[in-house]
This record gives sequence, structure tokens and C-alpha cells, in this order.
Amino acid sequence: MTRHFLQLSDLSASEALAVVTRAQELKRLPDRSHRPFVGRTLAMIFTKNSTRTRVSFESGMARFGGHALFLHAGTTQLGRDEPIADTARVLSRMCDAIMIRNNSQADQQELAAHSRVPVINGLSDIHHPCQLLADIQTWIEHRGDIRGKTAAWVGDGHNNVCHSFIEAAKLFGFTLRIAAPEGYEPSATIVAEAGGAAILSASAAEAVAGADLVVTDTWTSMGQEDEQARRLAAFGPYQVNAELMAAAAKDALFLHCLPAHRGEEVTAEVIDGPQSVVWDEAENRLHVQKALMEYLLLGRIETK
Ligand code: CP
Ligand code: NVA
Repeated sequence: MTRHFLQLSDLSASEALAVVTRAQELKRLPDRSHRPFVGRTLAMIFTKNSTRTRVSFESGMARFGGHALFLHAGTTQLGRDEPIADTARVLSRMCDAIMIRNNSQADQQELAAHSRVPVINGLSDIHHPCQLLADIQTWIEHRGDIRGKTAAWVGDGHNNVCHSFIEAAKLFGFTLRIAAPEGYEPSATIVAEAGGAAILSASAAEAVAGADLVVTDTWTSMGQEDEQARRLAAFGPYQVNAELMAAAAKDALFLHCLPAHRGEEVTAEVIDGPQSVVWDEAENRLHVQKALMEYLLLGRIETK
């Protein structure tokens, strides 16, 4: 059966950990020594901007001996209303996997339902699961076993990265405390499905107190530009700055999926400071997505 990766919980806990472990292995391998994808292609559909997602998938496919096709949706027939189901049928007869970044988890599900090959969510309105694989790889790489640890999400809770973080908490066995302004809380369904692994906090200080990891994201996601002024006003007390970081554990790490807005959701002092591991986090997109594609396309976790 074709396996898709539309949200983090499409993997079991053991599969997710195996992918992250494999990513650490791949990171240590000389790039050109392992080419399992010679002759294989990945179609990458984008309706939104991207730096990391596009480059990590494209570079990852090339380093594995394969090829990635960048498809700006607006220049394909999707931009002239060809149904996404028909697009799935056609692409999946020509390519070995499809990655999609768009504004609709429902459309991604429709794409997957009609695809013979794995479909990977490269960000939607609801989830950003590839980001979380990289985030978890980074946290484990720096701190080892994360089971029983505490992470604090500060800022926009109704956010694709936050939703995937909630799923990660359940899958990887840590607690996620979320501090978000009223009206910007995460999806209640996603929180409920985490079965206690995700907890809403009353303030940023409460969420961060003693936490092992502090995470945030932009206050204005792609497509929300019209709401920017209202968001800037609402999120003021949720900035991750040195004072807030001082309330976390002494060795707490800082993560941000990027792109970041210094002076808004995070200060330059924090993101460019010693607790920040955002460049490792960005790099790990490359390694962990290679591990993910290996798993989805070859159906096994390789071990060296
Ligand atoms: N973090 C992330 O997905 O970055 P891009 O928008 O640059 O792909
Ligand atoms: N929440 C952000 C993530 C960008 C990678 C957005 O959707 O714009």
C-alpha cells in the first residue's frame, strides 16, 4: 500500500524515531556514496514561497542520484483549474513521489487519494510535518533522549508548525506547553488527539518556566499578510527574548523553523545567541527528508 506523509501522525512512533535516527546516519555519510534513487523523480508542487523546503528536497534528490521537478502551481494546469485528482493521476504515472506545499490540507488529502506514489506535505494550512522531523532530529542531536522532557511553544498557536509540534509531543513522548494569545490557540481537535502531551499555558512565562526547549514561529504566516497589524498588536507579550529564555532551563535550546523576523517573534540576541540551534535545524531538513523519502519510496529504513 502506498504510504503518504501528510501529517506527522501518519508515521507510528517507532517509524518516526527510525526516520530521525536514519537521518543522523545519513548526515555522517559522505554524500555521494549512497545513491538509492538513480532514475527516480520527485514532483514538487508549490503554491507558496519557499527557500528551505524547495532546496532541501531538490538537493536531497540530486544527492541520492535522483531528480526533482520544481512545479510552480500557477504555471501548471492546476493554475487553470485542472482538478487536483487528475493532476495526481498524471504525476503519479510519471514520477516516483510528489511533494506539495499549498494552503489546503484537504486538497493534499485529495491529491494523495488519487496518487499511486507517496505524497509528502511540504507545508499546508494545518501541518508542517517535515519541519518537525528536522526539529526532533536537532533536539536529539544536541541533547540525546527527549522522552519526558518539556518544550514550550510561544506565539501563534493556530499555526502549521505548532500543530505538527503537538503531534510530535505525543509521538516522541515529551510534553509541549503552548502559550498563545486569545483567539490564536491551536486546533482543539489536534490538542485533544495528543492525549495530554500538549497543554495550554496562561502566559509565555508559565509555558517557558524550566522548559528544555523554546520554540516559536512567525506571527504572520504566508497568506495572513492582511492581518499583520492586528497580529503584531496581539502577539507583543509573546516575544521570545533574553528575559523569557532566562526562565527556561539553563541549557534550554531555541528552535525556529525560519524565516524569522528579528524584533518580532524573537530578538536577534536569542536567535543569534548561544542557545539557538536554528542553522542545524535548517540543515537537518535535508538529512531527515532524505531518510523520509528512503522510507516512503523503498519501504524500509536502511542501516549502514
Ligand atoms: N521552514 C521552512 O519550511 O522554510 P521555507 O519556507 O523556506 O521552505
Ligand atoms: N507558519 C509559517 C511557516 C513557514 C515555514 C507559514 O506558514 O508561513
